[in-house]
Amino acid sequence: MKTVHSIAELRAQLDAWRREGARIALTPTMGNLHRGHLRLVEAARARAERVVASVFVNPLQFGPNEDFDRYPRTLAADAAHLASAGCDLLFAPSVAEMYPRGRDGFTTISVPRYADVLEGHFRPGHFDGVATVVNILLNLVTPDVALFGEKDYQQLLVIRQMVEDLHLPIEIVGVPTEREPDGLALSSRNQYLQPQERAQAAQLYAGLRRIADALRRGERDFAALCARETAALEAAGFRPQYVTVRRPDLSEPVAADRDFRILLAAFLGNTRLIDNIGLLEL
Ligand code: PAF
Repeated sequence: MKTVHSIAELRAQLDAWRREGARIALTPTMGNLHRGHLRLVEAARARAERVVASVFVNPLQFGPNEDFDRYPRTLAADAAHLASAGCDLLFAPSVAEMYPRGRDGFTTISVPRYADVLEGHFRPGHFDGVATVVNILLNLVTPDVALFGEKDYQQLLVIRQMVEDLHLPIEIVGVPTEREPDGLALSSRNQYLQPQERAQAAQLYAGLRRIADALRRGERDFAALCARETAALEAAGFRPQYVTVRRPDLSEPVAADRDFRILLAAFLGNTRLIDNIGLLEL
């Protein structure tokens, strides 16, 4: 696997592959890779002859009081993991390479349908930062297919909507969430958890499963269901921000619906965790 840091080197390699007629897949990441990311690379490998991964901790998608500075940066280990998962090219640009004129006045992509709800409500500007950097990466790589984890479910919808609205000829594939044996969704932020918090963190998935079971039994008082699990999380030491049942497109559900997406976000100590499940996927 080759690692490049500049857009010029990235383009040179991509041009060579395109001349060979290769189908190209992109897996954008912020690094600090875990098994979930490697599943993305494996899924990419199965769909294309050439797999490109990017590692870039994107300042545009972090709020002023968020963890941009302490977000774990582990490029050497990431490169080794990517190589063993079958990645062909790692693009690891600096902030200056990506945003040479700085952030002020920078062109922004916004997807208003999802920008201000749920994650967008609690992380203002976050999805503009995600959509903007993903659009840049898609433009630079022009892959045939790009893969994103369902752990960030709302992000996946933002990206699908952007690609549809901007008529980008790129297939967007969502890859199911990887979990620890106790159900905790894999996330780079799990390493912020103290040992005692790590043990508690599995309650998030347990809560999602309880809501899913109730929906499957036919319960349809969505507000009461979510209030019950919010209280359970509070009792277990979390500070929940939202626990919600939605349609798969995140619109409000009605009783006659058969498929739902159950999503939550909660602080455990100083760590903010998110998770979601789809009813029909279980
Ligand atoms: O999911 C992530 O790691 C990031 O939001 C992404 C898609 C790589 C954009 O920075």
